[in-house]
Amino acid sequence: MTHLTGISFFLRTLGCQMNENDSERIAGLLVAAGARKTERVEDAQVVIVNTCAVRGKSEDKLFSFLGRLSPLKRERGLVIGVAGCVAQLYRETLLAKKPDVDFVVGPDNYHRLTEILSQRLGEKKVATAWSREWNEDARRSLLRESPVSAYVTIMEGCDHFCAYCVVPYARGREKYRPVGAILDEVRGLVPAGYKEIQLLGQNVNSYRDPETGTSFPELLEQADKIPGVEWIRFITSNPRNFGREIAETMAASRHVCRQLHLPLQSGSSSILKKMKRGYGREEYLEKIALLRALMPEICLSTDIIVGFPGETEDEFRETLSILEDVEFANIFSFRYSPRPQTQAARLKDDVPFEVKRRRLLEVQELQKSIQTRIHRSFIGRTIRVLCLGRSKKDSRAYSGRSEGYQVVNFSAQEDVVNRFVSVRITDVGPYSLRGKIEETGPSPA
Ligand code: 5AD
Ligand code: SF4
Repeated sequence: MTHLTGISFFLRTLGCQMNENDSERIAGLLVAAGARKTERVEDAQVVIVNTCAVRGKSEDKLFSFLGRLSPLKRERGLVIGVAGCVAQLYRETLLAKKPDVDFVVGPDNYHRLTEILSQRLGEKKVATAWSREWNEDARRSLLRESPVSAYVTIMEGCDHFCAYCVVPYARGREKYRPVGAILDEVRGLVPAGYKEIQLLGQNVNSYRDPETGTSFPELLEQADKIPGVEWIRFITSNPRNFGREIAETMAASRHVCRQLHLPLQSGSSSILKKMKRGYGREEYLEKIALLRALMPEICLSTDIIVGFPGETEDEFRETLSILEDVEFANIFSFRYSPRPQTQAARLKDDVPFEVKRRRLLEVQELQKSIQTRIHRSFIGRTIRVLCLGRSKKDSRAYSGRSEGYQVVNFSAQEDVVNRFVSVRITDVGPYSLRGKIEETGPSPA
C-alpha cells in the first residue's frame, strides 16, 4: 500500500476521450491514495501529462508543455510524469531525451502509478514495462469531470494496423473489458445522477466479451435496458467492423443516440487501399445509406486525413465530393503526418506542406458551408438538449449537446446545468445552434 497524503498534483490531458477517461482514472487512483488534485500548475508538487501520439502535432503539444514546466522544475523541484500514448511509445527513450521528466507510465500500467510516484518522491526515475492485460482494479475509482455524462471504457487497443496509425503500437492489440464489469459500471452511474453514457474504445465494433463472447450489438442491447440511462453513445467505430447488426440494434434501441462517428479518412478508394482501411468509397457509402434508411434523422460525423503519401489532386477531389454526398453533421480533419513504426512512415511523405495546408483549408471551408446548410434546417424546431455548463460571460447563457451531438447554446432564466431541456432553435452558425429554452426536465438529483 502506498500513501501520497498531502501531495498535490496537476493533471494535463491531451488527446481523445479515451485519454480523458484515463485521466479520470489516474486522478481517482491518486486521490484514493491521499493526494490532492489542483487546478493550477503553480500549486502542484507533481505534474502528470497524459499524452496523445496519434499525430505529430499532438506529440508537439507535450514538448511545448514540458518546456513551460522547465523553470518550475529548476526553481522548486517539480516532479514531472508523462503518461498515455507518447509514454508507451517511447518509454525509456523519453527519459533519456527529456531530463526534466521523472517518470513515464503507459496506459496499461496506471494501477502501478501510486507506487511509481511514491518511489519517485523517494528517489529514482522509473519507466514502466509493456503490459497487455486488462486491469480491472485500476478502474474502480474514477474522479469524473462531469456529474451527468460519463465515459465507460469497454475495450482498448486496435488490431487493424492502418498504414498511417500509431495506435496499435501505442495502445497495443485489442483488449476487451468483461461485459459484467461494463454493465455494473453503467448501473452504478444511474443513482449517481448520470444521464449520458459514452462507451469508449479504439475499435468498439469489434468488442467481444472474453468469457461469454457477448458481441458489441449485444452489449448495446443490454445497456439500453438499464433503467435510468437516457442517452448511450459509443466511439470510435471502424467502418470495416460496422455491420448491419449494429445499425439494426441502434435503430431498435430506445436510448442509443441517433448519432454516429464513422471515420472515413479519404473519399478515394485508391487512397483507402494504400491506407489499408479495409473498405472502399462505395462500401462506405452503402453503410451510410443503410444507417439513413434505418434512422433517417441520424447525425453523422467523420475524420478526414489530407495529404497521405501519393495523394493526387484527383484523389483529393474525391474526398471533397464524398463530403458533399454524405453531408456529415461534423468532421475532424487533419494533415497527414508520418508516425513512428507505422507502414506509411516508410513511404515518402511527398505531398508538400503547402499543398496539405491548402487541401485542409478546402475541406474545412466546404464542410463549413455544409454545416451551415444543415444547421439552418433546424431553425424553428424544438430539440432536446443535455445542458452541460453555463457561459462564463453571461449568467443566463447555457451550453449543451443535442442527441446528434451538436453544440447548442441557449438562454434560460433558471439554472439548468446537468439537466435535459427543450430548446427552440432561433439562430445558427456553422459550428453551433442557438436558441431559447422552452421547458425544463426534472433535476437529475
Ligand atoms: N496523420 C494525420 N492524421 C492522423 N490520424 C491518425 N493518424 C494520423 C496521421 N498519421 C487521424 C485520423 C484518425 C484521427 C483520430 O486522427 O483521422 O481517425
Ligand atoms: Fe488506427 Fe486504423 Fe486502428 Fe483506427 S482502426 S485505431 S485508424 S489502426
